[in-house]
Amino acid sequence: MKDTFYITTPIYYVNDKPHIGHAYTTILADVLARFHRNLNRETFFLTGLDEHGQKVQQAAAERGVEAQQHCDEMAPRFMKLWKKLHISNDDFIRTTEDRHKKVVQEILKRVHDAGDIYEDEYEGLYSVSEERFITEKEAESGEFRDIKELKEKNYFFKMSGYRQRLIDHIETNKTFIQPEHRKNEVLGFLRQPLADLCISRPKSRLNWGIELPFDTNYVTYVWFDALINYITASGFGSNETLFQKWWPASYHLIGKDILTTHAVYWPTMLMSAGLELPEAIFAHGWWLMADAKMSKSQGNVVNPMDLIDDYGVDPVRYYLMREMVLGQDANFTMESFIKRYNSDLANDFGNLLSRVSTLMKKNYDGKIPEPGELNAAENEIKNTGQALISNLENKIKGMKINEALEDIMQFIRGVNKYMEEQAPWKLVKEDKESAARVLYTAGEALRIGAVLLSPVIPNRSAILIEALNATDAALEWGGLTPGNQLRDHQPLFPRI
Ligand code: MSP
Repeated sequence: MKDTFYITTPIYYVNDKPHIGHAYTTILADVLARFHRNLNRETFFLTGLDEHGQKVQQAAAERGVEAQQHCDEMAPRFMKLWKKLHISNDDFIRTTEDRHKKVVQEILKRVHDAGDIYEDEYEGLYSVSEERFITEKEAESGEFRDIKELKEKNYFFKMSGYRQRLIDHIETNKTFIQPEHRKNEVLGFLRQPLADLCISRPKSRLNWGIELPFDTNYVTYVWFDALINYITASGFGSNETLFQKWWPASYHLIGKDILTTHAVYWPTMLMSAGLELPEAIFAHGWWLMADAKMSKSQGNVVNPMDLIDDYGVDPVRYYLMREMVLGQDANFTMESFIKRYNSDLANDFGNLLSRVSTLMKKNYDGKIPEPGELNAAENEIKNTGQALISNLENKIKGMKINEALEDIMQFIRGVNKYMEEQAPWKLVKEDKESAARVLYTAGEALRIGAVLLSPVIPNRSAILIEALNATDAALEWGGLTPGNQLRDHQPLFPRI
């Protein structure tokens, strides 16, 4: 494994309104990027927009504007949402940028020079909504709309020639496709003959795309164009040093619906162009509403903006990370959101801060008291905290984010139990020194909890650390400074 960490999200179709599906993958990438930065790994986090293709051209035509203008007007909706969601991406790529068009053309040239592109007349069924040729069987499945018979000359990429090499790669690189069941799905798909990929669209039918360098009557198929964004942004063809540094990507995060394009088209394209394959592709499941996929056509899409406006960004980030077992589908319900919020964030976490800070304000002039010597109970908390810190790295690297969060919350619950047992609100009346030890311990455990949770709830963690006037964000026991004045703060997670 390289010591740098490069993580990507899919680039989203520019004309869709951003919804919870987009927000989820982007938050997940953000959380992983922040965890890795906290582990002192140099990190590059990329997201962006997929702006070519028929759907964009059509949407622009319906509004009576040029396609480029349409994209320029739609793109800020995503950028604004990411800002609002505290997304810490290092780059934002749009496929209509010049830097990207150049790279797509360069890759097309390479693949062409490698003898992997040929021209052929194709006659068959075409799904306008999916923007690709489909088989008879697919047409019968009823999953495709706007099906037309098309007879067209096009360019094809000899994907079939890479089938065995891809199978070998997947089998030798056990973590290339994750989770395991998705890897098996791809291997199953590859057991059947692999067709070649139509990579062009005649301008007579679609002109919103990147022109083929070897035939100006055609534009590039939108998926062939889009996948290349991952190397454009990491410096391919523009900055060789950067490209060496970041490529291959550590993770392409995707939803399960775009597995074939990422796990079959993309690697074979890279093989033909003579480039390394990404280290890992991770496909997560879907957010469902009452067991149905959220989608515009179902009309059951949760608008993340509404939730955020009502409850704040960090609780939404926490819920999405805590509720989904990575790789499986998860059900979104308002009920489970509120339950999670109240039990984990308000009762366990926020409440602990307000208890500790109230007692310190009342009895220690609002300062962090001296802890003195730790007893067995304090040492246990300290040791549990240290074990938690070292286990967390494995959980994150193993993509078990929900478990990592549960472990942190369990630690916090343990601290609450310790507070109940020690009852510093009583103890302070008889033995102020001992009560100081208890409050310092609980406060320090909270500080550690906040640092550990900061990738998921960056804003609220910062409020907590600020409230305890902790200048030290180190993940080692003893970061609270006795004598430091507590600062006033808003209730961290007011109960819903
Ligand atoms: N433009 C392509 C990706 C090109 S990447 C080179 C695309 N865009 S998309 O806008 O349709 O959104 C893609 C991502 O959003 C997918 O990963 C998809 O799985 C995810 N989601 C869309 N709805 C979703 C849910 N309901 N739940 C979770 N993620 C879902 O495909």
